[in-house]
Amino acid sequence: MGKITNFYTSSVGRKLLVGLTGFFLSAFLAFHLTINLFLFKQDAGKTFNDYSEFLATYPLLRPIEIVLFLLFVVHAFLALWLWFVNRRARPRDYEVLRASDNSKLESRVTFITGSVVLIFLVVHINTFFVTSRFFAAEESVTMYQRVANAFQNPWYVAFYVVALAFLAYHLKHGFQSMFQTFGLRSAKYQRLIDVVAIIFWLLIPLGFAAMPLYFLFRVH
Ligand code: HEM
Repeated sequence: MGKITNFYTSSVGRKLLVGLTGFFLSAFLAFHLTINLFLFKQDAGKTFNDYSEFLATYPLLRPIEIVLFLLFVVHAFLALWLWFVNRRARPRDYEVLRASDNSKLESRVTFITGSVVLIFLVVHINTFFVTSRFFAAEESVTMYQRVANAFQNPWYVAFYVVALAFLAYHLKHGFQSMFQTFGLRSAKYQRLIDVVAIIFWLLIPLGFAAMPLYFLFRVH
């Protein structure tokens, strides 16, 4: 038991945990996108609302939400910890970044993109999750209507599109580093890895970005 604890509190163990939690968070994103795709169904939100209600009353919802929250916290906390340790290990931080100094530049960009995603999540969860669960005064407002209303505001839509571009970059780097950490970067699987990575860092953020744009520009 002690050995396991020691491993996960070491730098390598923490890197693995960042990769592992990132992997499960990506799986959540894929699931979240799949359900949200029903927003595009031309049935005035019926299917989307049905799924939303089914999930809201699903008995395992609370434990799943707690696990999801812990995944976000562990991922962000350990990534930050690794970032600070890396910075301390490189005292010449005031030097101008050279193109060849890739890992330093990448880790700085990941820190910035990760911070933007965190701000996005706080705003997003406040709009759709907190208000509907804890301050649902207007019982008659469906989740579909909440989404449609929120995306009438062009500033809010612009914020989503920009934040999703940051998410795309964060996932792109995250996937590269996860495959490296897990030692999966082999010529044999390179093609498969590239395809999976593109689905996650490009197609999933694009799919999400299409939603606010759809509600802002659709013709009723
Ligand atoms: C841009 C398109 C998106 C739309 C339309 C959307 C919509 C929603 C809605 C309606 C909810 C409330 C679900 C409920 O309580 O029943 C929700 C929750 C949530 N969303 Fe999103 N979302 C989008 C993008 C994202 C992205 C990109 C992330 C992560 C980076 C994310 C993370 C979450 C989380 C963590 C929750 C709370 C957990 C849950 O209820 O599943 N969402 N979203």
